[in-house]
Amino acid sequence: MKVTVVGAGNVGATCANVLATREVVNEVVLLDIKEGYAEGKALDIWETSPINLYDTRTVGSTNDYSKTADSEVVVITSGLPRKPGMSRDDLIATNANIVKSVTENVIKYSPNAKIIVVSNPLDVMTYCAFLTAKVDSSKVFGMAGVLDTARYRSFLAEELNVSPKDIQAVLMGGHGDTMVPLPRYTTVGGIPVTEMISEEKLNAIVERTKKGGGEIVNLLGTSAWYAPGAAAAQMVEAIVKDQKRIFPVCTWLTGQYGLKDIYLGVPVKLGKGGIEEIIELQLNDAEKALLAESATAVRDVMDVLDNMNVMEA
Ligand code: LAC
Repeated sequence: MKVTVVGAGNVGATCANVLATREVVNEVVLLDIKEGYAEGKALDIWETSPINLYDTRTVGSTNDYSKTADSEVVVITSGLPRKPGMSRDDLIATNANIVKSVTENVIKYSPNAKIIVVSNPLDVMTYCAFLTAKVDSSKVFGMAGVLDTARYRSFLAEELNVSPKDIQAVLMGGHGDTMVPLPRYTTVGGIPVTEMISEEKLNAIVERTKKGGGEIVNLLGTSAWYAPGAAAAQMVEAIVKDQKRIFPVCTWLTGQYGLKDIYLGVPVKLGKGGIEEIIELQLNDAEKALLAESATAVRDVMDVLDNMNVMEA
């Protein structure tokens, strides 16, 4: 079984490396527009196979999409990353053109692929891929919630001095500062987190989570890759192994949560068919208000895309 990762930059290469090391599939195609770049990264990863003891092949390609033919899943990481001082939304025009052209090529060679978008601004680039691919929305979705909840869970594990394995959480909304971590749905070994931490400390962690991407951009001068790459790989694994995992995923909503015609992070069941079910939580009024606020922020950027005529070009 084959999986393609488009974009051999930090996030794409990390994703390919995790997929190979964990033997999620037997072939990972890494594609990039820059001459020789994907080939070099794929070769470097393959040369770790005798050390890390796996047999997944990694194949590089300079923009030759025929090598990606019949991929089960395609991860799109192409586009510019953020620099300090930039919001994810500042990337919209450049990355929309890139995501559109990548998606056209992906669909041409793998019309049945599940497409996971990682490019920013995430929710709107997922929308862009969906408009371009013209396939069912269960097959086009974005990676954000797995990363954002991983950050939230890692901060909680550190604060509580417990294993991150024991922290379960869900988070909703857009991939930006309006995202909505949900303490009411956060548990530590089955215990509600609110019984283990003060409200003040929990609030601080929620706030840190919302700006988790920016924290890394400020430290590194570019955006994160280890956690985003691993998060995308975990979604790929859920699909190719038909695990039916429950993850927050950027998903096309058709009335769920009172929201329609918008890509937004919500909990879903992820399996062979892509998004197999959208799970509707019984949110309280305060949570609903935060989700509505996040939806408005995402819709504003979707409107920017709609008004840019990128999709007609
Ligand atoms: C982040 C970028 C990848 O959150 O959006 O780190």
